[in-house]
Amino acid sequence: MAKKRILSGMRPTGPLHLGNLHGALANWKRMQDDYECFFFIADWHALTTDYESTQAIKGNIYQVFLDWLSVGLSPEKCTLFVQSYQKEHAELFLLLAMITPLPWLERNPTYKEQIAQLKNKDLSTFGFLGYPVLQAADIIMYKAEGVPVGIDQAPHVELTREIARRFNYLYGEIFPVPETILTETSKILGIDRRKMSKSYNNAIFLSDTPEAIQDKVAQMITDPQRARRGDPGDPQVCNVFTFHGLYSDPETVTRIDSECRSARIGCVACKKLMAERLIEALDPVRKKRSEYEARPDLVADILASGNQKAREIARRTMEEVREAVKA
Ligand code: TRP
Ligand code: SF4
Repeated sequence: MAKKRILSGMRPTGPLHLGNLHGALANWKRMQDDYECFFFIADWHALTTDYESTQAIKGNIYQVFLDWLSVGLSPEKCTLFVQSYQKEHAELFLLLAMITPLPWLERNPTYKEQIAQLKNKDLSTFGFLGYPVLQAADIIMYKAEGVPVGIDQAPHVELTREIARRFNYLYGEIFPVPETILTETSKILGIDRRKMSKSYNNAIFLSDTPEAIQDKVAQMITDPQRARRGDPGDPQVCNVFTFHGLYSDPETVTRIDSECRSARIGCVACKKLMAERLIEALDPVRKKRSEYEARPDLVADILASGNQKAREIARRTMEEVREAVKA
């Protein structure tokens, strides 16, 4: 039986961190054996919010791509590509823009949220409003049947479904209506206990050195109620303990749980232990990363062949689309 095709993308906002690893990336990795996977870097989408400062985008594309390869997304199993290398996305975006009713976009909850949140940016642009139309083009271009995304992106996939239906209704059944495949969000927080995010300056990056990881772990906020070494702590509210759950063996986790509650272990020692396990867990990622960094030619080849594969499909889809739209 043919594998189902899925597609997902990330904006190249910077190097990837543990939140990305335990959210999207772990999910993508798991799916690469069971699905025909297309993963791409949505660099045009980065322009919707960062059109005023674009100088970092190119470098970020490379960093994200290296991160993908380092964590074990396999170029043999998935097609990895960059959005802006496929000009067909722009053409399909234009055609979809013609048939997308404005109220669908104005109603989009993420639109209003982002405008309210990113007050330092002028987002009253046509491009930002049309963000989900470009996303719809990305998805249906490859006739994806499923789109693995976090809950924040679910409204965009919902809009994609409506746009695909509307296209099919107007011009004939060309596109499958894709399903949302919800990714479980990562439970780990940043070192300040807020959501881990590059823009909060609280992230541990996959590309961090062991020394940087040690420093960051040492700064992590623990159980805020545990003011003194002699106070008992509550591991359930401690982010360091959540990390232990991911990186330490079950006996250690059980031991820390009881020693923290009875104040037999202090946070300094507890963090040190966790940092060691985390550094160890990222060893293979670091190793792969340095292998790829030493072979820029190989990285370029992998990207070129992913782009090539994506382009062939995009071209075929656009031939069908032009024929159907008669324009
Ligand atoms: N909007 C997504 C994000 O910010 C990125 C993205 C662009 C995407 N096009 C996509 C995700 C298509 C899934 C499918 O994370
Ligand atoms: Fe958190 Fe460990 Fe300190 Fe307990 S001992 S509060 S689990 S860092």
